Amino acid sequence: MNYKNEYAQSTQSPDEFWLQQAKEIDWYRRPTMGCTPSNNGYYNWFEDGMLNTSYLALDYHVDAGVGDKAALIYESPVTQTTQIFTYRELLEQVALFAGALSRLGVTKGDRIIVYMPMIPQAAIAMLACARIGAIHSVVFGGFAANELAVRIDDAKPTFIVTASCGIEGSKLLPYKPLVDEAITLAKYKPQGCILFQREQLNAKLKAGFDHDWALLMASSEPVAPTPVEANHPLYILYTSGTTGKPKGVVRDTGGHAVALNYSMGAVYGIKAQDTFWAASDVGWVVGHSYIVYGPLIKGATTVLYEGKPVGTPDAGAFWHVIEKHKVNVLFAAPTAFRAIRKEDPEATKLEKYDITTLRTLFMAGERLDPPTYYWASEKLAVPVVDHWWQTETGWPICANPMGIAPMKTKPGSSSVPTPGFNVKVLVNAHEEQAIGAKGAIAIKLPLPPGCLSTIWQDHPRFISGYLNEFDGYYSTGDNGYIDEDGYVFIMGRTDDVINVAGHRLSTGEMEEVLAGHPAVAECSVIGVHNDVKGQLPVGLVLLKDDVLIEESVLEKELIERVREAIGPVACFKRSIVVNRLPKTRSGKILRKVLRQIAGNEPVTVPSTIDDPSSVDEVSSLMREKGLVASDEHK
Ligand code: COA
Ligand code: AMP
Repeated sequence: MNYKNEYAQSTQSPDEFWLQQAKEIDWYRRPTMGCTPSNNGYYNWFEDGMLNTSYLALDYHVDAGVGDKAALIYESPVTQTTQIFTYRELLEQVALFAGALSRLGVTKGDRIIVYMPMIPQAAIAMLACARIGAIHSVVFGGFAANELAVRIDDAKPTFIVTASCGIEGSKLLPYKPLVDEAITLAKYKPQGCILFQREQLNAKLKAGFDHDWALLMASSEPVAPTPVEANHPLYILYTSGTTGKPKGVVRDTGGHAVALNYSMGAVYGIKAQDTFWAASDVGWVVGHSYIVYGPLIKGATTVLYEGKPVGTPDAGAFWHVIEKHKVNVLFAAPTAFRAIRKEDPEATKLEKYDITTLRTLFMAGERLDPPTYYWASEKLAVPVVDHWWQTETGWPICANPMGIAPMKTKPGSSSVPTPGFNVKVLVNAHEEQAIGAKGAIAIKLPLPPGCLSTIWQDHPRFISGYLNEFDGYYSTGDNGYIDEDGYVFIMGRTDDVINVAGHRLSTGEMEEVLAGHPAVAECSVIGVHNDVKGQLPVGLVLLKDDVLIEESVLEKELIERVREAIGPVACFKRSIVVNRLPKTRSGKILRKVLRQIAGNEPVTVPSTIDDPSSVDEVSSLMREKGLVASDEHK
């Protein structure tokens, strides 16, 4: 099968195509139904199927006789630890933790929040939830207590699973105080907390509420997987939208397993004997799909890395892991490679490592900028694949399908639509754009299996946020164009979401935090270019009349507020005071104009602007403060 045929089949006969793919995984009851309209205006995949993801990821391989093969390699430069779990060992741990959760009364459909550093127990907790049909919601460790509280209130978990600390480079970050604060802040109160004590820091447990992971495991009995319906939610993963309230992306069980299994082969070219390393974090979708579920469902070996591309200990860290564990495919964010390149431009650290096992480097999380593409291609001497996807889709929308047939690469493009994704460029409803014309990127419905099934407890938001803009299409929130060869070029977001070091953040959320400062009358947060992190947020603030505060003092206070409310991951480090902000006559701040100024793009001033001279004023101030992208980074 070549790419063209496979793609055509997937979009012309999706039911037939995906029911065929569904045969590649093991079901308790194999589905006969492909995509069916559901009664809430969307679609379900494999409605009559029954399966269990923990079974697919673990028991299936042990039963198939490969229990002694490495399933998960934990590589932690920050604790100087390497730990290898075979499929059998991982299954034992998962079945025991699932038993512990069951003993605490957790049952199918209950939510469990996992707030963990990059340690094997994070993956064990996720798989244990899947085993008993509990719905996990992993929250990234770089979020502050307040963000955790927001997620607690939305997901209403019965328990929170956490660890005593995270280790970020050389910093030890106690997690327990954060979790306690989040529980205090949240209106909804979970029944308890399960904590894994790390030897680097012992957390004090509250009797009657906190449970020690090790003690629970010592007295637990393993439990068997619970078969669940294909549409049963496997997890909720919160992601940034345009408002302050994060969106709880819900992933179904059946479509997810089929899609990930397919993508491991078709996109990544991974076979069961391979070692796959996604250098991300379990708190992000990449970690869910390609540190935990994808490689394990495929029966391959996955690497869980607790470290950074630089500083743990140096810019040779990635090469060291590739050599040590004979990694075949690496998946990383461009920002990680920019950080390595900045520190070791000639890649001299690479000279002492043998990375000949590496076949392909995949990049995602943000557009792979051509300089980083060329640098990585030259230094690693393997194909470098930019691929585009979102938390919502759960797997790549566009990629160079290395497992079907590698295609030529076009720097700056995430290549072609992955089978199943009918990608179009639109301007107005149903108006598909000509070749090369720029517009909003949308995906014709139905989306393939594995994409979000709704927003947790807020189906109307799902419909209004993704399906209402273009009738019959899913709006991705990205814009770009498709060239004459069908290659997709993603240019950026159409909304107020920015991408900082491969992390998706809402500027609207940061604005809410800045607006809470007593000196701030109005504000706007925009993303400005940064050489390593891609973008960094900057706050433009207008002071209240008669307020006297030094700009540097205000900046410090605003930085602290964002850290407290959102977390260090926001990387909010800069604000400037402006006299005016470009606004419409009705008082709406023209964010698009500000984004265009920062991006050094031609500014389109709408006719509704209140005072056109405000554009030039803000523009020259931003230029003066070095907040406008240079011509090279337009
Ligand atoms: N727990 C707690 N804090 C965390 C954290 C975590 N899991 N992850 C990040 N943070 C903190 C950092 O300590 C830092 O705090 P500081 O302001 O006190 O220094 C802040 O959040 C920003 O972190 P980060 O953006 O990671 O910056 P960095 O300078 O430490 O590292 C990179 C820069 C480029 C090396 C790093 O961002 C990176 O490797 N990015 C890749 C991202 C990625 O894999 N994304 C997934 C998409 S595929
Ligand atoms: P997240 O949901 O955190 O994975 O972020 C998804 C968003 O990141 C997308 O909507 C894009 O804006 C951006 N993104 C991810 N991968 C790419 C890529 N390869 N090229 C361009 N943008 C990307």
